[in-house]
Amino acid sequence: MKDIFDVAGRCVLVTGASSGIGRHAARMFASRGAKVAVAARRTDRLDALVAEIIKTGGQALAVALDVADGAAVEKAIDTVERELAPIDILINNAGTTWSRPILEHTPTDFAKVIDVNLNGAFYVAHAVARRMAAREASLPPGGGSIVNITSVAAIRTMIRTPAYNASKAGLAHLTRMLAMELAPHRIRVNSIAPGLFITELSQDYVHTERGKAMLAKIPMGRAARDEEMDGPMLLLASDAGSYLSGAEIVIDGAVACAR
Ligand SMILES: NC(=O)c1ccc[n+]([C@@H]2O[C@H](COP(=O)([O-])OP(=O)(O)OC[C@H]3O[C@@H](n4cnc5c(N)ncnc54)[C@H](OP(=O)(O)O)[C@@H]3O)[C@@H](O)[C@H]2O)c1
Repeated sequence: MKDIFDVAGRCVLVTGASSGIGRHAARMFASRGAKVAVAARRTDRLDALVAEIIKTGGQALAVALDVADGAAVEKAIDTVERELAPIDILINNAGTTWSRPILEHTPTDFAKVIDVNLNGAFYVAHAVARRMAAREASLPPGGGSIVNITSVAAIRTMIRTPAYNASKAGLAHLTRMLAMELAPHRIRVNSIAPGLFITELSQDYVHTERGKAMLAKIPMGRAARDEEMDGPMLLLASDAGSYLSGAEIVIDGAVACAR
């Protein structure tokens, strides 16, 4: 029987692959036979990840990328398509945050996060979508797939991170808009809203009083395990999700239910 979750031979671009959720996703796709392009700014980490994937028989390419630089995004995606393969799946994951009481926030603090999480995510999705649309007929049977990584902060707000909340809510809405306009081009666009995964982004926060209080409020009583991202991500990325577009999968141990 055909495995509808099969991604072997597909080309996946993962942004923000130098740590956390992105690095885990790159390993997961590579272990299932996908060709994986890993992008971020810390290239030493990307090189180590590529070496690890190649050692286990996989195919991978490291690409230096600051997603906030629109021209650099175009060049990086051309490199992936020239040196690895045309992109079938985008895991649009690069993200950052900045936490400070709202009255101490500066316009620069706000803009830096928006530049990466919203503008950067748009530059990458747009550049990949244009290339996918240009080869519509040769996209996988279930279409090209763009998976934007948002956050539960797109659904319910957290204090001290105004740009993070706004950028993720913006990206969630952008996902739905792109889903509508790109559907005729056989491109699906969905989002995953993670709750708490322990990564470089969150590891300091979970030890603060506010972080401990947040953990205590998770109905499942714990943070997510890295591999709990795999099933939802594969569903959206593979032909198993061929009629899914504009959807949001919340992976949060039921925390967003408590509004
Ligand atoms: N961890 C959680 O609990 C959680 C919850 C909700 C949502 N998320 C989202 O999940 C995504 C991954 O976060 P994570 O938890 O895995 O955090 P992480 O471990 O800090 O990873 C963030 C990744 O984004 C990359 N990045 C940051 N700025 C970038 C830029 N300007 N250009 C290119 N890459 C950039 C970083 O690479 P370089 O620094 O090497 O560029 C890194 O690889 C983010 O979008 C985050 O908002 C995480």
